Amino acid sequence: MDELKRIIRDVPDFPKKGIVFKDITTLLADGRNFQRMIDLMAHRYLGQGIQKVVGVEARGFILGSALAYKLGTGIALVRKPGKLPWKTLRKTYELEYGTDTLEIHIDAFEPGEKVLIADDLLATGGTVAAVVDLVQQLQAEIVECAFLAELEFLQGRKRLPEGKVHSLLQF
Ligand code: PRP
Ligand code: HPA
Repeated sequence: MDELKRIIRDVPDFPKKGIVFKDITTLLADGRNFQRMIDLMAHRYLGQGIQKVVGVEARGFILGSALAYKLGTGIALVRKPGKLPWKTLRKTYELEYGTDTLEIHIDAFEPGEKVLIADDLLATGGTVAAVVDLVQQLQAEIVECAFLAELEFLQGRKRLPEGKVHSLLQF
């Protein structure tokens, strides 16, 4: 794990002064370690009856689709507004300044479908809390929310269902 953590690059003052951004592009560009990351994340869910992965735009699509391939499931897309062509359910949530909105197709799941939510990074938890709400409104069953990395000091997991959050790497 230490090697994976070391490959993720710290970018100071991005996107704003005072924030040290965890840049995963360096890990995505490293074939051997990208594969290790997906294998390690998928291992936890093999045999767990996952029926669909939910990927969160944009970096969550990269992890989500690799995990779905590995688990042999489909992937449902949670997108920024105005991108999905069919009927959608929307959720607007608070950011540090202002709000953001996410959407999912209303027929993304069968009722009771067992889903794994995937994203690259858990920071404040606002994004995936909104995804959890959308998935629950569509009557799917959340097995877990899986993250490549978690910024523990922001305590984002407190905003997500208790006992249903897993991160491969912690900072
Ligand atoms: C980033 C990241 C998570 C979210 C984490 O996405 O990929 O989805 O922020 O932050 P939170 O836990 O405080 O909500 P971003 O909105 O930057 O989108 P991107 O993947 O399109 O770059
Ligand atoms: N890295 C990547 N994505 C993020 C971060 C970060 O440090 N904070 C919020 N989203």
